[in-house]
Amino acid sequence: MNLLVMGLQWGDEGKGKAIDYLAENFHVVVRYQGGHNAGHTIYHDGRKMVLHLLPSGVFSPGTMSVIGNGVVVNPLQLVEELRDLESAGVEIRDFWISDRAPLILPFHQKLDIVFEQSRYLKIGTTRRGIGPAYEDLVGRRALFVGDLLDADRFKRKAAILNEYYNRLVHAYGAEGTEVGDYAQAYLEAGEFLRSYVTDTTQLLNRCLRDERQILLEGAQGALLDINHGTYPFVTSSNSTVGGVFTGTGLPYGAITRITGIAKAYATRVGEGPFPSELNGAKAQWLRDKGGEFGATTGRPRRVGWLDLVALRYAVMINGVQSLFLTKLDILDGLDPIPVVHAYRLDGKEVKEFNPTVEFLEKAQPLTRELAGWKGSVSDVRSYGELPAEAKDYIRFIEEAVGIPVEFVSVGSARHQTIRRKLKS
Ligand code: IMP
Repeated sequence: MNLLVMGLQWGDEGKGKAIDYLAENFHVVVRYQGGHNAGHTIYHDGRKMVLHLLPSGVFSPGTMSVIGNGVVVNPLQLVEELRDLESAGVEIRDFWISDRAPLILPFHQKLDIVFEQSRYLKIGTTRRGIGPAYEDLVGRRALFVGDLLDADRFKRKAAILNEYYNRLVHAYGAEGTEVGDYAQAYLEAGEFLRSYVTDTTQLLNRCLRDERQILLEGAQGALLDINHGTYPFVTSSNSTVGGVFTGTGLPYGAITRITGIAKAYATRVGEGPFPSELNGAKAQWLRDKGGEFGATTGRPRRVGWLDLVALRYAVMINGVQSLFLTKLDILDGLDPIPVVHAYRLDGKEVKEFNPTVEFLEKAQPLTRELAGWKGSVSDVRSYGELPAEAKDYIRFIEEAVGIPVEFVSVGSARHQTIRRKLKS
């Protein structure tokens, strides 16, 4: 089985933990989109580790980890992450990175920051240069990981692009960058990475032919997708299912199952519409209880109730077959538990999501209050042992989105996961 695991909300659904739990059953774990804007938190041997670029499978010995051509790569960040893992005693054995992954260069980050500081284009990005790097790919002027392996080629291409960016940032009154200030560091990172760089499209297709089990690891979430998310408050890649094909070179039939990750409530970082958002004391309570602070930026996350209208949309556009519900334990002791089951728009009840800002700004959330449970679910290991109210909550979600909840996470450790046997 080749499994796609993807976030169904605005990122931060707990994908790191879910993928770490699932990865041991797979031979290969692949990242296919996004960059170091992602932050996947994993508790490994009792220690909190945050991965930004490396696939979460790096903690499972015997698993191949691959960064596909769809990921934008800051090589300095990647080298730092590899070194940090080595010093934490994690051996990096079978790791590969695409020679065709676009590079993030210092001027990308510079422009990202300049745009964020301007009044017109504030998205609340992670300021890592993700958007400008993807723009260069589409603009047919990108540099790639493979360019790091040839110093002359790297410097020649970087000089042209650097000049282009300097014109842009100068127009915004900001200081430019000089190739001489970063070329050495980038080329050294290239030397460090040289033995890991390969044609991952051929590698992954060989794995497919050899029937090695592949886990595809999504970053961000479906509602941050550049085409299907809450544009313009989105990331610059396809975090929906299509990103797998463009970001790996694997063919359509390669995915045999899609499991979507959804948190038992909702969060969002950055700007943009969020119909089920909470404010005030309740928001503070949920944020603190859920530890909702960004893994990449440390920013406090916006929090709200689970939005089943949005979740149904994410399930629909991706063909998700089962859910991995995370952080159920955070709702311990909350009674009642509100869930958004529809919106009111222009006096009518609406159950179909539309990702436009115009629609979402008008959408008033309609909530249903479900009974909460007493005590904690964090020590529960089988579905049958969950309190009746927790099972009712799960059933309500399943009925609303039309697919089963296959996994329930009740704590941050790998073993705090309930797996349900599904009939089909
Ligand atoms: P960018 O990806 O840095 O360009 O940011 C664009 C939007 O996506 C912003 O709202 C970010 O907060 C959001 N975003 C990017 N990566 C993540 C993530 O891994 N988790 C949650 N939000 C993210």
